[in-house]
Amino acid sequence: MNKFARIIGTGSYLPPTIVTNDDLSKTIDTTNEWITTRTGIKQRHKVTDETTCDLAEKAANHALEMAGINAKDLDLIILATTTPDKVFPATATMLQTAIGASCPAFDLQSVCAGFIFALTTAQQYIKTGAANKILVVGSETLSRIVNWKDRSTAVLFGDGAGAVVLSGSSDTGILHSKLFSDGNYLSSLQVSNNYINEVGFIKMSGNEVFKIAVNRLSSLAKETLKEANLSSDKLDWMVPHQANIRIISAVAKRIKIPMNKVIVTLENHGNTSAASIPLALDTAVRDGRIKKGDNLLFEGIGAGFSWGSVLVQF
Ligand code: COA
Repeated sequence: MNKFARIIGTGSYLPPTIVTNDDLSKTIDTTNEWITTRTGIKQRHKVTDETTCDLAEKAANHALEMAGINAKDLDLIILATTTPDKVFPATATMLQTAIGASCPAFDLQSVCAGFIFALTTAQQYIKTGAANKILVVGSETLSRIVNWKDRSTAVLFGDGAGAVVLSGSSDTGILHSKLFSDGNYLSSLQVSNNYINEVGFIKMSGNEVFKIAVNRLSSLAKETLKEANLSSDKLDWMVPHQANIRIISAVAKRIKIPMNKVIVTLENHGNTSAASIPLALDTAVRDGRIKKGDNLLFEGIGAGFSWGSVLVQF
């Protein structure tokens, strides 16, 4: 039986339409300077007619190509998304058909922690021998649930997708992972809708989310490294959920990881929820920063709250 789930391919996709901070400042009361200094975000990508499945398909095909495997050889597809294309069927089943796979496929909803939850779930399938080749995708069209008149949220979010292909391995791969949820924070960050002709929008208490994110993610990162017996100087890269540069740098400082070992891509795409970690990962794998054998720490938090980490030897 394979002990580890190893990442053998990564892929990502951003829709071509870009909305810059200056573009937003023409429609809402904000400035490029405010957005850049408070968040680190410079632009976000937005779908015009593409769906969550379309974005997922492009990211998935890139990851399959890097992995050198055919979609027909997949044993399972897990799609993390908070913006599924329909209430049902699962967007993952549409993705299965789009890429030409025939394995079981399901959606997983854990908002911005979705990729971490999906990766940890996939790891369990591999460890138990229930599956050997798994596609894990994070794909979001958050622009559909952003209130573009609300400056406190409109500047933060974007659309995109990222994917990894996992394969069973006897020697290396996912070393450790931790998941948490606490449902006491519904009012801090949510989308309310009643499914009857009503589209809900993101509502958030930014300040509260900020403080909780820094505290929970710092303790989480420390615990993950300690339980895996890995000191922070043995970590090659932290690949965090891309929400806000001030959250990322506060966590890095608390766990003593220098910023030159942190992958930051949010300036280019903003917060893409479940897509953000695989998007950042794929960027750094393809530009050569992340190399085979590197120790990587993924961590993220989202509404609920739900939060988690995955420590990987790449
Ligand atoms: N442009 C200009 N001013 C803005 C603005 C914008 N886009 N959004 C808010 N402001 C104003 C506020 O109205 C407030 O004005 P006031 O002082 O006159 O009342 C001021 O800026 C400060 O607002 P505040 O909310 O305290 O700013 P902040 O430093 O906390 O930054 C966030 C706001 C949203 C960037 C920050 O709280 C954040 O990133 N939180 C975490 C959000 C997140 O990551 N959520 C997803 C988790 S997965």
